[in-house]
This record gives sequence, structure tokens and C-alpha cells, in this order.
Amino acid sequence: YLAESLTILVIGASGDLAKKLTAPALYELYQRDYLPKQMTIVGYARSKKTDEELRDAWRPVLVKKHKGEEDRIDAFLSTVIYRRGQYDSAEDVKGVFDEMEEREQADGQEVANRLFYFAVPPSVFADIGSAIKEGALSKTGWNRLVVEKPFGKDTASFEELSKTINGLFTPDQTYFVDHYLGKEMNQNLLVLRFANSMFEPLWNRHYVESVVITFKEDIGTEGRGGYFDSFGIIRDVMQNHLTQMLALIAMDAPVRAAGEDFGDYVRDEKVKVLHAIKPITLDKCVMGQYAAPDDGSMPGYTEDDTVPDDSVTPTYAALVMYVDNPRWAGVPFVMKAGKALDEKKVEVRMKFHTPAAAAAMFPGIRVPANELVLRVQPNEAVYMKTNVKTPGLAGAPVATELDLSYGSRFDDKMADSPSAYTRLILDCLRGKQAAFVRDDELRAAWKIFTPLLHDIEAGKKQPIKYKAFSRGPAEADEFVSRFYKRDPTYEWHPPTQG
Ligand code: BG6
Repeated sequence: YLAESLTILVIGASGDLAKKLTAPALYELYQRDYLPKQMTIVGYARSKKTDEELRDAWRPVLVKKHKGEEDRIDAFLSTVIYRRGQYDSAEDVKGVFDEMEEREQADGQEVANRLFYFAVPPSVFADIGSAIKEGALSKTGWNRLVVEKPFGKDTASFEELSKTINGLFTPDQTYFVDHYLGKEMNQNLLVLRFANSMFEPLWNRHYVESVVITFKEDIGTEGRGGYFDSFGIIRDVMQNHLTQMLALIAMDAPVRAAGEDFGDYVRDEKVKVLHAIKPITLDKCVMGQYAAPDDGSMPGYTEDDTVPDDSVTPTYAALVMYVDNPRWAGVPFVMKAGKALDEKKVEVRMKFHTPAAAAAMFPGIRVPANELVLRVQPNEAVYMKTNVKTPGLAGAPVATELDLSYGSRFDDKMADSPSAYTRLILDCLRGKQAAFVRDDELRAAWKIFTPLLHDIEAGKKQPIKYKAFSRGPAEADEFVSRFYKRDPTYEWHPPTQG
């Protein structure tokens, strides 16, 4: 594709998503020479704006992240133009692409590829999708559509969305983004699990006692309350990001995990995991909603101007589910996610059974369980809590860690590591779909969560208030402790050498 011409149409270019995520990712590709020389990025939206105004809106985010690269940023921005149009007007969209065609022809390009990036709410997908289909498809190159969540709010609304998109584009043209699949540690899972001989033999119910997937943010909804309130934490991050992580952790080995066409092998295995999970019931879930902290440094969730005063939308949830297949039957998979908590962290914790004979061999001595921790962010790390004898004259086992902290081991690579979106857009340009979610995965994930979401919306369970910047509701800790108990003596020690 590098030798061909490329037009990227960013629909909804005046929005936040385009500015904060799409534009920086495109810049990172430009900066690393992953975009063709003959390329135009067209920002498209309804508001009136000049090319220069769009560039000025995008520039500060880029400059902030890439200090000292002002000239390169300006060169990138010179490839960006803005065209105004209605989302439901095939004529407006065609007008833009007639202009693009003229440019391509003037450049003497025979193959023109087109990437349509939907940075707009799903309510306009059908309109803009039909307009593109009528007036904007390339006849000489590929046409690909990148779509962002929300992919519906439950099974029924997902089916509607899926019907709309499938009516416009074929599955191999459609790239459903779950940006968690673009994160370093999640991309690492295939290699970690299947390219080491010491993990895979243990990766099952015989050795693993529980798996905990945790997502914590130390900020509230921060002005996004309007969107968040009709979704809640379960739809916002659990049904998608954390479920995708669960699928990567629990899946069986794909037939192939690299090369030209491995995408469907990985997705076939992930969807099987999702099919093996029964819908979550209310008794397997504790929810919370944050209130202002004691020092009043932040408004409580319902005090946000964009949130109704009587909202019962959860900003925290802890859930448990089981993967009913031979590998995992009986192993609880716990998911915890919350906004306005005491720290910012995303990680997976796999706790192993203590060796069967440990109690007999070390009478009266506590032997801590092994745990494998994959920290997705911040500061990517893989570490295994491993018992060694307490050094010195004592003899009791003490949990330490075999530690791979990316920041110290890969300092050169991590300093300038690309964003999740950067990797995903590059995959799309290369026609690789493995890290994009397939239609059947989305459907299966909604099946797991829809009954629970409907019960919550019918008022069958209410969120428990917790103070912002705390661990969340105490009831949730109690609930999780039924499935996973933390070793109270263990403390992670970050590596001292950098
Ligand atoms: C988004 C959610 O999908 O993911 C946000 O809508 C959340 O509420 C965000 O904050 C988290 O992404 P990241 O990459 O910052 O962990």
C-alpha cells in the first residue's frame, strides 16, 4: 500500500475522538514512515471550518506528545484538509471524492486505496455508510471501514447495527476497533502463552485457581457523563475491553498466530471461549457508584452537570463468570472495573493452586500461592510471584518475583512506544484483521452481558455508593474474596536497576 495512493476520510473530524486518538495515531504512522507519499487525510464533518482551522485544532495534542517535532508535525498537517458535508448526503461525500480522484489522476496513480474512519456516534453510521457506498468507493484499490464502539447497547441494538454495517460493507472490509487489543501487553499474550514451554502446560483448571482482570481509573467521568450515564461501566469497559482480554487469556491455541491470514484463527478461538460463558446473573455482580470524596476535591457522579441527580448507573462493578469448557471448568474469572478509584491500573492476575504436598512438607508454615501478573498499564510488566527460602538463617518460603518490567528491560523501545490506535490503524492499512473484533465475537459478548444489563435497568439491583479515590465498595471486596484471596504479606517490589 505504500506505493499506492491513500485517502483517509475521518468522519466526525471536529470531535474529541478524532482529535485525541485518531489524529495522534495517524501522526505516529507518518512519523515512522508507515503512510504512503501520496496521501490525503480528509477531515469530514457538518460544522463550517477551513483546512487551517482543523489543523490548528489537531496541532496542540500532537505538539504536546512530540515535543521538538514541530516541523514534522506541520509537514504531517499539510496532508490534512477539511471538507464540510452532511452525513446523509451522498452528493456531499461524492463531491469530496471527485476532488480526491482528480488529485489521484493528476499524480498519475493507478491504485487508490480508501480508509473510512468512523469517529461518529452509531446513530449516523447508516447515513454516512450509505453515502460512502454510493459516492466514495474506490474502484482501483481497497476500501476499508474502521468503526469505533459503542457497538450497540445490548444484543438487539447490536443486531441492528450489525445489519446496517453488513448491508454496506463486507466483513473483510470492516474493522471493529477495540483499542485494548492494540495494547502492548495484550498483543504480547499470544507470544507469552504459546512461545514459551513453561506456561501453556499450566494454563488450565488443574493448576490455575482463579483469574482476576482489574481495570481501575483514578478519574471520574470528567464531562463525559452525558455519554457514560446511558452506558455505565459494564458496557463502557467490561463487555468489550475486559472481555476481549479474557478471551485472549482463556482461548486455546490458534492454528497460526502470525503470517498473512492468521486473523480468523485467533478470532475463531476467542469466540469459542465467549460461547462457553453463561450469561452473568445478578447474584454474580456487585455494583458501585462514586460519591464525592471527603475533601470535596471532586464532585460525586450524580453531581456532574451532565448526569441526572437520581441516576443509578454503575461506575464500578465486580463480576464473576466461568468458562465452561474442559480447560477452565470451575475456575472463576473475576472482572473488576471502576472509575474514580484509588489508583490507575489495568492488570491480569492468575493465581495458581499451592502444591498438593506443601502443607505436609512444610508443616505449620504458610506457603504463598504462585501468581502470574500481567500489568497492561501503567508500566507494562510480567511477573511471577515465586517462593524462595527467606535468605539468611530463616527457612520459611517467601514470595518474591521473577520480574520482567518492560521499562527497564526494553527502555529504548518503551520510551517512544506507539499508541494502541497506531498499531491498529497500521494493521488496517496492511489488511490484517486479527486485532479487530469480529461480528460473531461482539454478538457472543453481548449475550453474556445483556440479561444482566436488562435486570439492572429494570431496577433489580442498585449500585452501592463509594467514596471517590477509594478501593470501591467494601461489599465488592468481600464478594471478590470469595473467589480470590490476596496474599496479605506480599508487596510488589519494582526493579531497582533501570
Ligand atoms: C474507553 C472508555 O473505551 O476506554 C473510557 O470509554 C475509558 O471510559 C477508556 O477511560 C480507557 O482506555 P485507556 O486506553 O485509557 O485505558
